[in-house]
Amino acid sequence: MEIFHTVAALRQWTRAAHRGGNSVALVPTMGALHAGHASLIRAAAASCNKVVVSVFVNPTQFGPNEDYASYPRTFEEDSALALANGANAIFAPAVEELYPAGAATFVEVEGLSNRLDGQSRPGHFRGVTTVVSKLLIAAEPDRAFFGQKDAAQVAVLRRMVTDLRFAAEIVVCPIVREADGLALSSRNRYLSPAERTQALILSRAVHQVEALVASGERRSSALIAAARATFAAEPTIRVDYIELVNWATLQPVETAASGSLFAVAAWVGTTRLIDNTILG
Ligand code: PAJ
Repeated sequence: MEIFHTVAALRQWTRAAHRGGNSVALVPTMGALHAGHASLIRAAAASCNKVVVSVFVNPTQFGPNEDYASYPRTFEEDSALALANGANAIFAPAVEELYPAGAATFVEVEGLSNRLDGQSRPGHFRGVTTVVSKLLIAAEPDRAFFGQKDAAQVAVLRRMVTDLRFAAEIVVCPIVREADGLALSSRNRYLSPAERTQALILSRAVHQVEALVASGERRSSALIAAARATFAAEPTIRVDYIELVNWATLQPVETAASGSLFAVAAWVGTTRLIDNTILG
């Protein structure tokens, strides 16, 4: 497997792959890879001939009091996992490679970027859209793979790719969960055993709303109230948001429709976790 540290080297590889008649997939990650990331890499390998996984802990998407410094960095394990799931190359640039000294250029999707996670993490989505733009420009992929786990991120990136006419097609993969329902996340490793149990409330709230919708409830107020009551049973957890929105605009809806996004974010101890479902 190839490992690239510069945009020039990555671009040379992608262009050679394209000249050879291959399709190229990009799987952007911040490393600390788990089975959720693995599912993206496998989907990428199933749909394109060549797969590059980027591993870059992007400083601009972390707030000043967030976990940028302590974010897990596990490059050896990440490389092995990427290879085992069908990656052909890893792109692991240094911060100065993607943000050259004096870097002053940002990409921002107005309106969507201050919704959901963007509301409690100001500047977060600006960091995401900026780095994903840089990755798309560097790798020139035919397809880029993202997880529904970060559903608001998907909405913001879809808008960006449409607005900037990026050539890449965005592919969204389902949420991978532990057997007990907890959505896999690189941040789950921060949880103590007690917090790990408390964290199940997120997936429980999500499944509860799915069940209510299946039984005919469509009113946003009722669905959100039910989820709120579930969270209230675990008072150690601080809710960040519980929302029912249009997945494209991230604006609240009054009535659940097919394709509506129900999303939750909550603090379990000092760890912020998210979960969601796209209603059928
Ligand atoms: P990261 O959190 O490493 O996630 C990389 C990709 O894996 C994202 O598209 C995310 O939605 C997906 N993913 C994470 N957990 C998942 C799960 N349980 N099931 C399915 N997919 C899952 O998201 C980022 O990095 C960054 O914001 C990034 C896009 C790389 C830009 O820096």
